[in-house]
Amino acid sequence: MKWSPDSLLSAGFLGLIALVFLAMFSSPRGVDAPLAPAPAVQPRTIVPAQPPAPETAPGSPAPFINPKARLSEGHWKGLEALPLSAELKQKLRLPMELEGLLVDEVTLNAARAGLLAGDVIVTINGRAVNTLEAMVEESRKVQMSKSVPITVYRAGRLQTFLLVARTNLGLAQVETAPMILPGDIMPHPYRGPCTQCHPIGSTGHIVPDPDGVILPPPPIRADAAAPHKDRGPCQACHPIIQ
Ligand code: HEC
Ligand code: HEC
Repeated sequence: MKWSPDSLLSAGFLGLIALVFLAMFSSPRGVDAPLAPAPAVQPRTIVPAQPPAPETAPGSPAPFINPKARLSEGHWKGLEALPLSAELKQKLRLPMELEGLLVDEVTLNAARAGLLAGDVIVTINGRAVNTLEAMVEESRKVQMSKSVPITVYRAGRLQTFLLVARTNLGLAQVETAPMILPGDIMPHPYRGPCTQCHPIGSTGHIVPDPDGVILPPPPIRADAAAPHKDRGPCQACHPIIQ
């Protein structure tokens, strides 16, 4: 058979009919559902707006998340705690035999309690906490209480502080290390296979980081005084409103 424009057209037409039939009879129906005629008025279905498909790194369609990834950070009533690794003990010149959680940030109740960044939490409510899992567990036991004693190692000795909540202490929250791109360069010393701690993918951060977004200099009046130091002729950067 010779493919003339006519025969191409009719082949296309036949194909279209085939597609219409396919669409009619392959609609998502249960296998056992009787082939009832479609109701005259279709019930209105609301299709939720789909979020844009997340961008993923080439070659990895979805983030790789190790369900057994190690926890790297805990938060509780304004304190941020990290597992006290050998690396941290070396860097902070802490005794190698010390066990606990390093407080690396305090705000809110934790700061009011007198805890300091650099403290090492040794016990919560008198019970040893050497892991973030233990911190969550101890917080769970006192989550409905209003206060709990926390003993920390500070400058060579142990000190106890009372962490106080206005309503209740609640549960500590934990995180793993941040998601990294498959090609990211390691900014820290080698700590083992990356996936032991990091999810791998490109959906873990807002890109660019909002703190890194630079807004253009706003329009200013011709007679405006500069609130900043001399940066050059005003119109080089600012649109001038007359
Ligand atoms: C034992 C856990 C652990 C392992 C293993 C590990 N990291 Fe990390 N990584 C961390 C933690 C925790 C941080 C957060 C900052 C810090 O502690 O240095 C981090 C930070 C990073 C960051 C900065 C991320 C950001 O958004 O701030 C990158 C990039 C990174 N690691 C890459 C790697 C790579 C690549 C490997 C494997 C070769 C690796 N890491 C292995 C725990 C780990
Ligand atoms: C090299 C670029 C540059 C030059 C030249 C410059 N500015 Fe600015 N200006 C900025 C930026 C960027 C900001 C936004 C805040 C900041 O970064 O300090 C700003 C902020 C301002 C603001 C505050 C506007 C607001 O609504 O927040 C005023 C007013 C202003 N500049 C006046 C001036 C005047 C007057 C001159 C000239 C004598 C001048 N600037 C020259 C870059 C410039």
